Amino acid sequence: THQWRGIIEEYRDRLPVSADTPVVTLREGGTPLVPAQVLSERTGCEVHLKVEGANPTGSFKDRGMTMAITRAKEEGAKAVICASTGNTSASAAAYAVRAGMVCAVLVPQGKIALGKMGQALVHGARILQVDGNFDDCLTLARGLSEQYPVALVNSVNPVRIEGQKTAAFEIVDALGDAPDIHVLPVGNAGNITAYWRGYREYATDGISTRNPRMWGFQASGSAPIVRGEPVKDPHTIATAIRIGNPASWQFAEEARDQSGGLIDEVTDRQILAAYRLLASQEGVFVEPASAASVAGLLKAAELDLVDPGQRIVCTVTGNGLKDPDWAVAGAPQPITVPVDATVAAERLGLV
Ligand code: F0G
Repeated sequence: THQWRGIIEEYRDRLPVSADTPVVTLREGGTPLVPAQVLSERTGCEVHLKVEGANPTGSFKDRGMTMAITRAKEEGAKAVICASTGNTSASAAAYAVRAGMVCAVLVPQGKIALGKMGQALVHGARILQVDGNFDDCLTLARGLSEQYPVALVNSVNPVRIEGQKTAAFEIVDALGDAPDIHVLPVGNAGNITAYWRGYREYATDGISTRNPRMWGFQASGSAPIVRGEPVKDPHTIATAIRIGNPASWQFAEEARDQSGGLIDEVTDRQILAAYRLLASQEGVFVEPASAASVAGLLKAAELDLVDPGQRIVCTVTGNGLKDPDWAVAGAPQPITVPVDATVAAERLGLV
C-alpha cells in the first residue's frame, strides 16, 4: 500500500536536506488538483484548482513549515517564532508539537480568523496579540529572533520558500507540463515567489517545456505592490492577506516580470463573489483570501485579458472552515421543524 509521504520525502532530491536530516512532517502536500467546470465555462479555458486547504493544518503553509521546522530541529533550535495573519501560526504551532519545540506566535489583535486562533491555542503555542498590523508583528518577530534563542519561521526564512515550491512540482507532475497561466492570492508574497522558483526549476531540468505566466492578486485595501508603495493601514475582509509591506515584494515583481505576468488587485466584493461561486458552483470551500485568485481570474476574463483555450491553475490557499463567519453571514438561517416528515418534506420543497 502506498501513502503520500509528505513533500520532503516525495521531493527529497530537490530540497535542502541530507540523509541525516530529522524530517518533521504531517505528510503535507499531495493536494488535489481539481478541474473547475464552471470557471472553465466562464473563461473558455481549462481551469484547475490546486486545493491547498486539504493540507494537514488547512493551508499551503504546511509545505514551508515542514522544511522550516525540520531544519530548525536539525540546527538544535528549542523554540520557533513567527508573525502571522493566522495560517502560518496554525502551521508552526502544529509542526512545533511534532518536533517537541516551543512555538511563539505574534498576531495582529482582532484581525485573525477564529479557526486559526483555535489552532494555535489547541496546539499549545504561546500567543501574543499585538496592537498593530501584520507588518508590525513581522518587525517584532525578526527583532526577537535576532536577540533571543528562537528561530524565525516566517517566509523570510529561505527554506520556507523551498518547501512551498513543491506545489508547482505537483502541478507539472499531474498535468504533464506547466500551465499557461498560474493565478495566486498575494499577501506577504512568499508563495508567488515559491511557485515561480518551482516552475523555473522544473523547466531548467527539462521536466517541463515552458513556464506559466504568474498572475498575483492583492486585496484592493492591501495592495502595496499594485500601488508601488507600502500601505500604512491595510484593510480587507480577507484577513490572511491584510499586509501593507510584503517581505518578498521584490521577488514577486521578479516573478511577474520574468514570466510576463501581472500583479493586480481585487475588491472585497469581488473576493466574496468568487468565494461564494467556488462553494456553491464548484463544491470547494475556501477562506476569503484564497478566493482572491479566482476573483482575479474572473476580473481578467471580464476585461478580455484571457485568451480562450488556455490551461490555467488557480491556487486556493486555505480551507473555508478556518473562517466560517463569511459562510454564515448573509445566508438564510436554517428553519426549525418538529419531528414530522410531512412538515419536513414541505419545508424542504419536496412536495
Ligand atoms: N492565502 C492565505 C490563506 C494565506 O494565509 C496567505 C498568507 C496568503 C494567501 C498569501 O500568501 O503571504 O505567501 O503571499 N498568510 C500569511 C500568514 C501571511 O501569516 O498566514 P503569501
